[in-house]
Amino acid sequence: MTQDCFPHRHLLGIQGLGPEEITALLDLAEGYVLQNRSLDKRKNLLRGRTVINLFFENSTRTRTSFELAGKRLGADVINMQAAASSVQKGETLIDTAMTLNAMHLDVLVVRHPDSGAVKLLSEKVNCAVINGGDGSHEHPTQALLDALTIRRRKGALSGLTVAICGDVLHSRVARSNIYLLNAMGARVRVIGPRTLVPTAIDRLGVEVFHDMRKGLAEVDVIMMLRIQNERMRGNFIPSIREYFHFFGLDREKLAMAKPDAVIMHPGPMNRGVEIDSDVADDVERSLIREQVEMGVAVRMACLDLLTRHIPRSGEAV
Ligand code: CP
Repeated sequence: MTQDCFPHRHLLGIQGLGPEEITALLDLAEGYVLQNRSLDKRKNLLRGRTVINLFFENSTRTRTSFELAGKRLGADVINMQAAASSVQKGETLIDTAMTLNAMHLDVLVVRHPDSGAVKLLSEKVNCAVINGGDGSHEHPTQALLDALTIRRRKGALSGLTVAICGDVLHSRVARSNIYLLNAMGARVRVIGPRTLVPTAIDRLGVEVFHDMRKGLAEVDVIMMLRIQNERMRGNFIPSIREYFHFFGLDREKLAMAKPDAVIMHPGPMNRGVEIDSDVADDVERSLIREQVEMGVAVRMACLDLLTRHIPRSGEAV
């Protein structure tokens, strides 16, 4: 595979990526799934490269899997929590990025609570920038790992009907998945209460449902979303109990989907709020653990592809 398959300096979002580019990334990730399952998980592809994870929001899966991905490819990886950095002394996002940039890093992975912050930062640095989630805008590597998980179980994305359920309004995962699934020829439904589904979301080419039982009818894939309390100003649901009754995935609502429909969740899960443990832990139907595994492989593929554009010292620019 050549770098022509993915001619981008940064990975800031799924919006704008074509099906060939998405497929190239997923195909490359397939190879890393095998590497990660083998005894010798390490390659020296990125030896001498430096990856910095700069996280202004909490994370378990994204930060850890980027760290593992970088280390398994032989890169030097540094994790920076904004809470323990000079951001606490008043340093701005841009000054923080420029400071790190001066240290000759190759890849900066950034998570930030503000939509658009990662793009702004990418305009100020020389290295490749990967969006690890910006506000409610995009979380591209989550959509890519979701796509790889679905493709491995269902064989293809094209022709599937995928339901994205819950707090769509605040979800960067929903937006990135909508762009990706549409680009790959899947049909997308969004399901949630009126307060948690943006009014203009149908412009993104999705069908909208406010009745979960109707929305789940004959779907192939169910993606559940967490209620993102940290992005809410005010009350969006009457009570957790009522929300679970109408929009929590349980065995009875699952029965509306196709008999071989699979259950996904980007994590972190809130059991008893958007999903019942009974279905979350169903080893036949739930792909939640596979999603985490695919996360490492997809992030290895992203680091691999994006560093192909960066000359090593001594190489002609
Ligand atoms: N899905 C996801 O982004 O999880 P983390 O917040 O744990 O990284």
